[in-house]
Amino acid sequence: MQKVLVTGGAGFVGRHLVRRLLERGDEVHCVDPIVDFTGGIHPQAGWPIFDPCDHDAFHFYEEDCRNFFRRRDDNDFDTVFHLAAIVGGRLVIENNPLAVADDLSIDAEYWQWAAKVTPGRTACFSSSAAYPVDLQRDGDYVLLKEDMISFEGDIGMPDLSYGWSKLTVEYLARLAHERHGLKSVCYRPFSGYGEDQDDTYPFPSICKRAIANRGADVLNVWGTGEQMRDFIHIEDCVTGILQTVEQIDDGDAVNLSTGVYTNFKQFARMAAEACGYEPEVVGLSDKPSGVFARGGDTTKQRALGFVAETDFRTGIERAIAYYESQGA
Ligand SMILES: NC(=O)c1ccc[n+]([C@@H]2O[C@H](COP(=O)([O-])OP(=O)(O)OC[C@H]3O[C@@H](n4cnc5c(N)ncnc54)[C@H](O)[C@@H]3O)[C@@H](O)[C@H]2O)c1
Repeated sequence: MQKVLVTGGAGFVGRHLVRRLLERGDEVHCVDPIVDFTGGIHPQAGWPIFDPCDHDAFHFYEEDCRNFFRRRDDNDFDTVFHLAAIVGGRLVIENNPLAVADDLSIDAEYWQWAAKVTPGRTACFSSSAAYPVDLQRDGDYVLLKEDMISFEGDIGMPDLSYGWSKLTVEYLARLAHERHGLKSVCYRPFSGYGEDQDDTYPFPSICKRAIANRGADVLNVWGTGEQMRDFIHIEDCVTGILQTVEQIDDGDAVNLSTGVYTNFKQFARMAAEACGYEPEVVGLSDKPSGVFARGGDTTKQRALGFVAETDFRTGIERAIAYYESQGA
């Protein structure tokens, strides 16, 4: 049994991680003020799929983690998973970059607190958005490999303020190891998805649109629809985290990805097929679409013993069945 802290633990990734930690018998402390326009859900409002309040070992603090860090100096956390962030999907990342810059302050206070209380180990959440956008252009893209971000050479231009904050959290993780001996790993999740994700993300919105338009001739997606992402099921992400967290100590980063590109038109087609129809999929060019191709190399994850198992079509079919059971 470990004593674990999860910052931002009421968000999408956090809820799945908290469930798995409680199921393996950990004492889980979750701090999250449930920030507007993020994916956070208050435990008492009822988390979809799983109720953490059924577990005595679940402790919830409805509080900004920066306040928690100022008032708490517990030095007996075995592991801290630092997920707290202003994320909020493509619209927030593109239209409110200064709100996202709050992550710089959250992460600065996180590392200062961690250096003081020295938890057994920490896992912090970077993102595939930290990779240089130059490697993700139409006609000129590659599967992104961990060593394509180097703090020794050219760092490249990441994806807006969100990407910058993620580069910074990784850099601080390395300094925390070098200067304070903290054991850490940084995760770079690609497009994590699952049925309980906030509707501002492409996954639930495209699945629900496919259901709502069942039988229609046309189904819309944002951007050209040609943009490609590497969709990884959230349960696979959590498996990857739990299988690898104790294998990296020096703040080094590892992708959470499948290595498979799917464009939004293909995605929408699979969602429609799961609903039993075959519309023409059309892009909405007035909506933001982000980079052209973002997929993550899997070599390093495999070397650490992790392979994502859920193929995307199965994940879509499972989600459509769930939404329909909920009366979507
Ligand atoms: N979901 C993905 O596919 C994905 C991909 C790349 C990176 N990530 C990273 O994983 C982490 C979790 O992402 P998510 O998808 O669960 O996002 P989310 O929006 O669902 O959850 C983020 C949570 O952080 C909380 N939060 C915000 N500010 C806080 C603060 N000051 N103190 C404590 N909690 C705070 C929010 O209330 C929310 O519950 C983030 O760091 C994100 O950048 C996720």
